[in-house]
Amino acid sequence: MQDAAGRIAELRAQIRRHDYLYHVLDAPVITDEAYDALMRDLRALEAAHPDLVTPDSPTQRVTSSAVAGQFAPVRHPAALLSLDNAFAPDELREFGARIARTIDSPSDYVVEYKIDGLSVAVTYEDGVLVRGATRGDGSTGEDVTANLRTVAPIPLRLREPLPGRFTVRGEVYMPFAAFNRLNADREAEGLPVFANPRNAAAGGVRQVDPRATAERRLRAYFYDILEASAQPPSQWVLLATLRELGLPVEPHARQFADIEAVVEALPAWREQRAHLGFGTDGIVVKLDDRDSQRRLGTTSRAPRWAIAFKFPAARGRTRVRRIWTSVGRTGVLTPMADVEPVQVSGITISNVSLHNEDYVRDKDVRAGDHVWIQRAGEVIPELVEVDVAARDGHEVPFVMPDRCPVCGSEVVRLDGEAAHRCQNPACPAQVQGFIQHFASRGAMDIAGLGPKLVDRLLQAGLIRDPADIYSLTLASLTGLERMAEKSAQNLLAQIEASKKRPLAALVLALGIRYVGERVAEVLAEHFGSLDAIMAASEEQLRDVPEIGDKIAAAVAEFFRRDAARTLVGKLRAAGVDFGRAVAHAAPGPLAGQTVVLTGTLSSMPRAEAEARLKALGARVSSAVSASTTMLIAGERAGSKLAAAERLGVPVLNEADLTSLLASAAAAEGAPAPTGEHRA
Ligand code: IVH
Repeated sequence: MQDAAGRIAELRAQIRRHDYLYHVLDAPVITDEAYDALMRDLRALEAAHPDLVTPDSPTQRVTSSAVAGQFAPVRHPAALLSLDNAFAPDELREFGARIARTIDSPSDYVVEYKIDGLSVAVTYEDGVLVRGATRGDGSTGEDVTANLRTVAPIPLRLREPLPGRFTVRGEVYMPFAAFNRLNADREAEGLPVFANPRNAAAGGVRQVDPRATAERRLRAYFYDILEASAQPPSQWVLLATLRELGLPVEPHARQFADIEAVVEALPAWREQRAHLGFGTDGIVVKLDDRDSQRRLGTTSRAPRWAIAFKFPAARGRTRVRRIWTSVGRTGVLTPMADVEPVQVSGITISNVSLHNEDYVRDKDVRAGDHVWIQRAGEVIPELVEVDVAARDGHEVPFVMPDRCPVCGSEVVRLDGEAAHRCQNPACPAQVQGFIQHFASRGAMDIAGLGPKLVDRLLQAGLIRDPADIYSLTLASLTGLERMAEKSAQNLLAQIEASKKRPLAALVLALGIRYVGERVAEVLAEHFGSLDAIMAASEEQLRDVPEIGDKIAAAVAEFFRRDAARTLVGKLRAAGVDFGRAVAHAAPGPLAGQTVVLTGTLSSMPRAEAEARLKALGARVSSAVSASTTMLIAGERAGSKLAAAERLGVPVLNEADLTSLLASAAAAEGAPAPTGEHRA
């Protein structure tokens, strides 16, 4: 039988390999579920063997920062230089000509995207991440190690144990998808939105609580070595070296024979930007050969061998037709500008969000104004500027309504919030928004239930809350005007299928404040069933990795509400799948574990071991299968042990079991039960 240390080492190696395949090579070979299962096994084994946990284990990304609330200064091993800028092809040519004056026959150039994030320096000692710092003033930055550890593509350990110190420089950024989701969540929560992904990433890296950084789903690319025992001979080899070490490198970097070739390729670089999924504000052109770089040297600010070429932001000028307020599912009022349709880098824009009252005031945008619209990183439409000079006096300033434009109830702006909210939970806009959210793709995924149909069902009095969807019948649906029997049948089939959606989808569908896709996944994974989540105390919720105080409070508060309890009761009665059952209502520290016992135990009867495992939230089953998360093998274990080894199920011995029970009981805050069964 393999010992725990060996199995732990093996699991870590597997997880690191999959991290590398996913984040560096962009070629994952297993599903997310299979990856999660490996992480789960590793967590279980580490829970049983706390002494074997090391800081570079893949389970140790979210740790607590040393000193909350302040970041210690870090002196960089070499200055994090800036770059000179070029805005026109001729300025690039001039850069090439300057180089040719010093270097007889210049080498190739390497061109990389200039990633629009924030610069960081990450240090490895003997291959293990020991420090992460912001750029700061270039020579001294801030220690943000605990936060950078949560950035998934940054390896906690390099693929080679490079002796000594090795410091790399790169850019931490937020992909557009994560940015859009973050802003949508913030808008719904009444928090000010971020103007662009760079600000959101910078704010993320400077969070006091690393769990908050983890929630931002930041990414990173590396492009320079600041400190190493040996430097690669060229930028091109440097990028390859970083990649081999397991550090993510932006994959579009290319070599060009001379500056003219770079100039020719500019339109292609620019066109490709829109498909990257993250913000770039240009490209960086670097002379490849390192000896030549050294001969050219640097100014106090920037290297002479590299230059940034900035793409002009695509802008369109148009006119604001009107400003109106939309009401979202959480009651938040969002001012929207309808504009005369305008083309900006290939798409037609006819409206843009003005986010909240403060934003409208800051921009001083009025109905009738001429404005410039820009797409952040060529993607997200944003109103950048009002052409104040073009005003003729007929422009109408926006006033936030004091009554909800949908239901007429009072609108309030809570202290500390940027948003105004309609206070009526029965507001049709809120109900409509909630049902729409419930049926949306990441949630219950009922594609046929679009906004128009939800409206009609509400009007007809057929539904009043999301659970009513499950009492729709063929007769009630075909009773609606213009509803063919075939469409009704399709819709009913989709509704039926939605009952089997995974638990994370159901948790997301409930529309709990602060519970987006990621948090829903974490809760589902940790607790295993909706009942277990509902039964969890605020403290138990807070103990879940990645769940902060704010989320824990919101989840606990949600399930205390009568309306939520009624809704959940209706969903249960309708037969919606609430996730795999756990042995007891309160989720213990072993929730989510499926344990099989085999062989003879000497320190306690098998029944006692079973009862204690169950009391801590584990499911105990009699046969080993793919869903078994650990096998506990006593003396003379036989076929179950063989089966577990064949399936790669972690195997614990009796001593492991004793320490697992003790540490799990400690985690639950209860003394380890002695003899008495608690199940
Ligand atoms: S090279 C000596 N390469 O752009 C090395 N910088 O405006 C100097 N940046 O502060 C930097 N992507 O934060 C380099 N591929 C890339 C980059 C990049 C983004 C940032 C970096 C720098 C800023 C300069």
